[in-house]
Amino acid sequence: MKTLPIITIDGPAGVGKSTLAKAMAREMQWPYLDTGAMFRTLALRLGPGAESLPDAELAARCEQIRFALENSGDGVKLFCNGQCIGNEIRTEEVGKMASLIGTNPVVRECLKKAQRAMGESSPLVAEGRDMGTVVFPQARFKFFLDASPEVRAERRCRELLARGQSADVQAIAEQIRERDALDRNRPVAPLRAAEDSKIIDTSHLSVDEVLAVMLSAVKAGGRE
Ligand code: DC
Repeated sequence: MKTLPIITIDGPAGVGKSTLAKAMAREMQWPYLDTGAMFRTLALRLGPGAESLPDAELAARCEQIRFALENSGDGVKLFCNGQCIGNEIRTEEVGKMASLIGTNPVVRECLKKAQRAMGESSPLVAEGRDMGTVVFPQARFKFFLDASPEVRAERRCRELLARGQSADVQAIAEQIRERDALDRNRPVAPLRAAEDSKIIDTSHLSVDEVLAVMLSAVKAGGRE
C-alpha cells in the first residue's frame, strides 16, 4: 500500500502530543493538524448534550461547521468557518465535552472526512487519538506517546503553576483518568496505538529527548 507524507502522533490527554507535534512540524516544515482542536470546536459550537441528538439532525449540524488549514500571517493555522480557532476551546470543560462528542459515530465520520481532505492536499503532522489507526492508516510515520496518569497530572500542575494559576494534582489526575476511560473505551475509534506505530513512554524523557527519538526514527525512514 502506498504511504502518504503524513506523520501521526496519537496518545492520551496531557502526554505532550501538541508540543511534540508542533516541534516535529517545524522540523519537517509541514503543516500541523490538531484534531483535538476540531473535536473541541465542534463540541463548543454544538453545545452540551449534542452527542445525544438524532443522527440526521447531528449530521446536518456538523455539515454547517467547516474546517480548513489556511495561511495566516503566522504560518498555516486551523480555521473553522473562516475564523481562526482561538483559546476559548482550551478549557478542561471543553476538553470533556470534546471527549463526549467524540464517542458519537456521526461526528467521527464527519471529522474523518474533513481530516482526510486536508491530508490529501498537503503533507501533515496530525495529532489526535485515532490518526494512525483510523484516519491515516497509510501514514508514513506513526508515533504513540504514553505516560502514566500521575506523571501527566504532575506536568499539567507545573504548567498551571508556572502560569500563576492554582493546581490540585489529585483533582487533575482524576480528570485525566476520567478522560482516558472515555477515550479508550468508546466503541468507535478508541484510543490505542496502531500496530505499526512507534510507542514512546515519555514518563522519564524531556521534550527534547522525545523529539530526538522521533527524528531519528523519521531519518531512519518510514514505510514505503
Ligand atoms: O487532544 P485534546 O485533549 O485536545 O482532545 C480533546 C478530546 O477530543 C479528547 O479527549 C477526545 C477527542 N478527540 C478524539 O476523540 N479524537 C481525536 N483524534 C482527537 C481528539
